[in-house]
Amino acid sequence: MTRRKKIYEGKAKILYEGPEPGTIVQYFKDDATAFNAQKKATLEGKGVLNNRISEFMMTRLGSIGIANHFIRRLSLREQLVREVEIIPIEVVCRNIVAGSMAQRLGMAEGTPLPRSIIEFYYKKDELGDPMVTEEHISAFNWASTQEMDDILAMTVRVNDFLSGLFAGVGITLVDFKIEFGRVYENEFSRVLLADEISPDSCRLWDTASGEKLDKDRFRRDMGNVIESYTEVARRLGIMKDMPTVIQGGLH
Ligand code: TMP
Repeated sequence: MTRRKKIYEGKAKILYEGPEPGTIVQYFKDDATAFNAQKKATLEGKGVLNNRISEFMMTRLGSIGIANHFIRRLSLREQLVREVEIIPIEVVCRNIVAGSMAQRLGMAEGTPLPRSIIEFYYKKDELGDPMVTEEHISAFNWASTQEMDDILAMTVRVNDFLSGLFAGVGITLVDFKIEFGRVYENEFSRVLLADEISPDSCRLWDTASGEKLDKDRFRRDMGNVIESYTEVARRLGIMKDMPTVIQGGLH
């Protein structure tokens, strides 16, 4: 047995060196954190669910031409992805007021927005990921103007596509967070969608009942976190070959 080289360990994922140059193995942990890791727990099965859900999202987005890092799933908790240079920006897209926007602007959660709003946060745990504007991003060279154009265009397409995909299974996409990375190809670089898309990084409300099916259940101690993630997977039709331990969470 050879030991794989760990490249980075985050709050919910571990990155290992991949089998070929330019690849990474992304391992989804069962760990959940909130409020910049002040709150922590292990939710058995979360890694398996997020691995599958993110695979599904990235594959579907790839099929409509949104370039992303996903290559293939390797195992229950692992997927092979392209190695990218992560752009240190969290891109949040909102359709309905919730979470930090409700707090910051004193608006009621659930208020529909007149148009989708895109926000940027600087990825810096020590600072609690502060909100920044495109001015900061360009002044500090975190991303070029061309890259920001691509990021914005891709984010709008991701929102349109995922809103429709979830609407089709009775889920409202309230908001989500995505990340991008750059890859170098000869003398050019281009932007790829990276990281993950899962109930950890989206707000998903059951359209009929308003019930939350995402990480807010953990953040707000609402219980049934795994059951809700499982329900998202089930509605997306990705439960069929899930391990029975997770299927057991279904009711
Ligand atoms: P917020 O309302 O707390 O700013 O979150 C907006 C969206 O971003 C929501 O779908 C949850 C997601 N998110 C993350 O994926 N990671 C984070 O660290 C935070 C704060 C939010």
